[in-house]
Amino acid sequence: MTGADRLVIRRPDDWHLHLRDGAMLAAVLPATARGFARAVVMPNLVPPVATVRDAAAYRNRINATAKGGARFTPLMTLYLTDSTDPEEVEKGFNAGVVFAAKLYPRGATTNAESGVTDVARIAPVLARMEEIGMPLLVHGEVTDAGVDVFDREAVFIDRVLAPMMKDFPGLRVVLEHITTTEAVDFVAGGPERLAATITPHHLMVDRNHMLADGIRPHLFCLPVVKRASHREALRRIATSGHPQFFLGTDSAPHAVAEKEAACGCAGIFNAPVAMEAYATVFEEEGALDALENFAAHFGAGFYGLPVNEETLILERDPWTVPEIVDVAGAAARGGVRPFLAGETINWRVAGIGPPSKGPVL
Ligand code: NCD
Ligand code: ZN
Repeated sequence: MTGADRLVIRRPDDWHLHLRDGAMLAAVLPATARGFARAVVMPNLVPPVATVRDAAAYRNRINATAKGGARFTPLMTLYLTDSTDPEEVEKGFNAGVVFAAKLYPRGATTNAESGVTDVARIAPVLARMEEIGMPLLVHGEVTDAGVDVFDREAVFIDRVLAPMMKDFPGLRVVLEHITTTEAVDFVAGGPERLAATITPHHLMVDRNHMLADGIRPHLFCLPVVKRASHREALRRIATSGHPQFFLGTDSAPHAVAEKEAACGCAGIFNAPVAMEAYATVFEEEGALDALENFAAHFGAGFYGLPVNEETLILERDPWTVPEIVDVAGAAARGGVRPFLAGETINWRVAGIGPPSKGPVL
């Protein structure tokens, strides 16, 4: 195998992930842990992970499920509501139980019904987070019925994020799963305390893929995929080597029956194919040498964590993505359909390598 057919990078991390709970957690966790060493776990369970006690209990369930597999560390988040107490947030952060807090505007996405109605209501929480250096992770969409769903991220940046950055000049903020040129420009033009995550599907898919050849419910997520020019802007910035943009899959499994429905829910399950998809995109952009920074260095750098010692080995070895990942029990009958199901993908994760001495690329 030649160098061009084998890629060894530092083991990456997933800075935005939905693992769910119970049988679904057990079904989806191995797909993440086979590659990623750490993941920031989103708190939008039902009911949400809104207290330190909830987060500690959820972390225990994840660790119990991960046992026996590759080393995997979940980094827990707290779900902010209108009534979140700054003391609770600080307690969780100082105790090392919660890593960050997540802002869902109420109703913006899956399980966001308990989210925040107006950021003014959580000003004391944001002030405390700013003081203690705790990052705020943001689902950046307004929810006003009068704002077109394709404009909700850009409007959020103008109406909510830009003022928040001014009002809390020390707050560390991650704009999650960005989808627009407006978001790229805002983050690239912003201070170092502002960053963004980018998903594999927003790099590979635009709204034509979702709608032009029949409606594709498995490509529906929030923020919804936009027109092709936005996808191109995301591909450019992700592969550019800009340290404020890093990997976050937003892998979000839902049972097939929930996706293929009169009112299908938002979320794409990409964990079985995530690193393979990113590698494909970076190769298409002629930027494979930028993958390691995006996947393994920039996120850790932003969050002030060491990079992982192990490596991840990718090989050019075409394989077909499974149609379905089974979930035990009745809760998710029919299983979950992964991103790129049934398609052939050139890169394959071959395994985790031992700690590397010095640079691996
Ligand atoms: C996520 C989910 O299903 O939990 N769905 C999605 O479309 N991305 C929630 C989210 O991150 O918005
Ligand atoms: Zn998400």
